[in-house]
Amino acid sequence: TPEELAARIRSAKATLGDRVVILGHFYQRDEVLQHADFVGDSFQLAQATKSRPEAEAIVFCGVHFMAETADLLSGPEQAVILPNLAAGCSMADMADLDSVTECWEQLEDLYGTQADASGRVPVIPVTYMNSSAALKAFCGEHGGIVCTSSNAQTVLGWAFERGQRVLFFPDQHLGRNTAKAMGVPLEQMPMWNPRKPLGGSTATELDDARVILWHGFCSVHRRFTVDQITQARQTHPGVNVIVHPECPMAVVDAADSAGSTDFIGKAIAAAPAGSTFAIGTEINLVQRLAAQHPEHTIFCLDPVICPCSTMYRIHAGYLAWVLEGLVGVDGRAPEVLNRIQVPASDAVHAEVALERMLAARP
Ligand code: 13P
Ligand code: SF4
Repeated sequence: TPEELAARIRSAKATLGDRVVILGHFYQRDEVLQHADFVGDSFQLAQATKSRPEAEAIVFCGVHFMAETADLLSGPEQAVILPNLAAGCSMADMADLDSVTECWEQLEDLYGTQADASGRVPVIPVTYMNSSAALKAFCGEHGGIVCTSSNAQTVLGWAFERGQRVLFFPDQHLGRNTAKAMGVPLEQMPMWNPRKPLGGSTATELDDARVILWHGFCSVHRRFTVDQITQARQTHPGVNVIVHPECPMAVVDAADSAGSTDFIGKAIAAAPAGSTFAIGTEINLVQRLAAQHPEHTIFCLDPVICPCSTMYRIHAGYLAWVLEGLVGVDGRAPEVLNRIQVPASDAVHAEVALERMLAARP
């Protein structure tokens, strides 16, 4: 039963004490998050990884790229554990090293590799946190950086100081929404198309490019529509619409504001009692915010429940299993199950790109 599982998790956690730390993303189920030592957005969880260097194990209740990031930012003796290895991110899978390298080589052919008079190189690669460690390593190696939804403007500003243009992957929407908010015109944001190599007929368009977008997207956030916002405004006059910047541009433009999972929670917490919110993000977070704030009316923009199916793959049974593995129950020797380890060949450069992000200031 859920109660038995919760009791097993509590008992294993109590036995392990400071040897283990549990990190949980806002999209996780409540049955998992109730056991987390830190709950946050992907940027906060990356920071939290560094806050407990004495813990032998970091159990990451989130998705694969987040656990990889924790491995990169944690100490070499610390083991990062992903309770269910099938918890990936379909957006992160939309960019792989081979195709990014192919695109990069085309950009080098087109723009060269020489810095301009002010020292800015032709292109800086920027990867969204939602990407493999191999792509973070690519960025580290090529003068680039990582961003999350909470620092995307700061990071793009960092990149524009050092580069004439940016190659942004994998999320086209976060790239477009962020660059647009910074004043980059849409016609200066071409999208790289793997079936139509750069150059040739697109060369003129690419001459003026400021941000070259990748074709990735989040299957949860692309479900939100302008019609849903129109509907929400009709049924709830005065409603405050907040969406995640992984939503398509028209949705972000029609909303009152857009921001990371942490931004959404803070905006709700700061509002006067009796406010009404329509939220465009994953359902576990929306439902939790609604439960935490009975003084407001909070609902999801999409009337059809929209969980992130991969975040959802972490459930309490897996958490109990990995924690009991660390303890060693029923006569078993203690063992680290489901460890996530970034290969050394990627780790050095990927860490460089992540540290640039942590150091970037507005
Ligand atoms: P946040 O960085 O806002 O937590 O978003 C992570 C994510 O995967 C959103 O889909
Ligand atoms: Fe990936 Fe979208 Fe799930 Fe976030 S909500 S983890 S971007 S699939």
